Amino acid sequence: MNSLIDIDKLERTSRRLSATELSEVFKYVKERVITQKSKPEKDQWEKYWEEMLNSGQDHPSFFLKKRFQNIYRLNGSFAEINGDTVCVSVLQEILSKINSLYLKDCDFLVEFGSGTGSNIKYISELNQNISSFGSDFSESSLGILKRKGLNSFFFDMKNPSLSSLPKIVQENLNRTAFLTSGSMEQLGDAWRNFVDFVLEVKPSKIINIEPIYEYYDDSEFDSLARQFHLNKKYFSGYVNFLKDKKIHLIEHRHKFGTLFDEGFNTIITSP
Ligand SMILES: C[S@@+](CC[C@H](N)C(=O)[O-])C[C@H]1O[C@@H](n2cnc3c(N)ncnc32)[C@H](O)[C@@H]1O
Repeated sequence: MNSLIDIDKLERTSRRLSATELSEVFKYVKERVITQKSKPEKDQWEKYWEEMLNSGQDHPSFFLKKRFQNIYRLNGSFAEINGDTVCVSVLQEILSKINSLYLKDCDFLVEFGSGTGSNIKYISELNQNISSFGSDFSESSLGILKRKGLNSFFFDMKNPSLSSLPKIVQENLNRTAFLTSGSMEQLGDAWRNFVDFVLEVKPSKIINIEPIYEYYDDSEFDSLARQFHLNKKYFSGYVNFLKDKKIHLIEHRHKFGTLFDEGFNTIITSP
């Protein structure tokens, strides 16, 4: 599983923590994991995106943590990396590699659960040949996309249908890439409808940037992320499902994340 992120470069810009600092971070993460509530419901997303719509911020605020703001998961431990936009930069590095490696034969890109639309906006800036669409089940999120002048449409991933896609996409699925970034995690154990739909309509590529439960090992460090994933009620079993179905996939595990999980693993499928 090669990486789309230059992890060595991140290592060079990071500072490993002392034993005392490390034990403080572990203690804090453990406490937070135990009390972690489930992922937001639709009305909570609606409220969150409404606040973001009113704030005018370009990127979502959920990468920012209250404590230990500059501490990240990196290569099997916690490390300090300074800068206000570390996660956004990492995500953009991944999107940039996705664009150069996987989008060459695609004229259309559709993101499901696109939030502020920052991912499709970034790819559109890199690649003038691709027409991008963002979709979400939150009207406030769609309001953000409209304000940014991005193509948008309502789509509930738990209740997917071909007719909900823009006509031009419906007619050109073999030249379309589907993207999810932190939205399949939100489907919890109700992800099969969306995956069955996607495999049935057969876009040229399916690109998922998501936390993958199966990748965590039994170390104390990964067990915390695993417990966080379970408490959040994020989706799991997707990669094993694709493998069981003998669907060809390319896996990029990225041993990087915020304090609590490894959210940037990337799976590419060509159904
Ligand atoms: C963690 S955010 C990720 C946003 C964006 N993809 C990003 O990378 O910044 C999850 C997004 O999924 C959306 N979402 C959650 N459940 C959904 C569903 N059933 N259908 C469509 N969108 C959904 C939320 O409204 C939110 O925009």
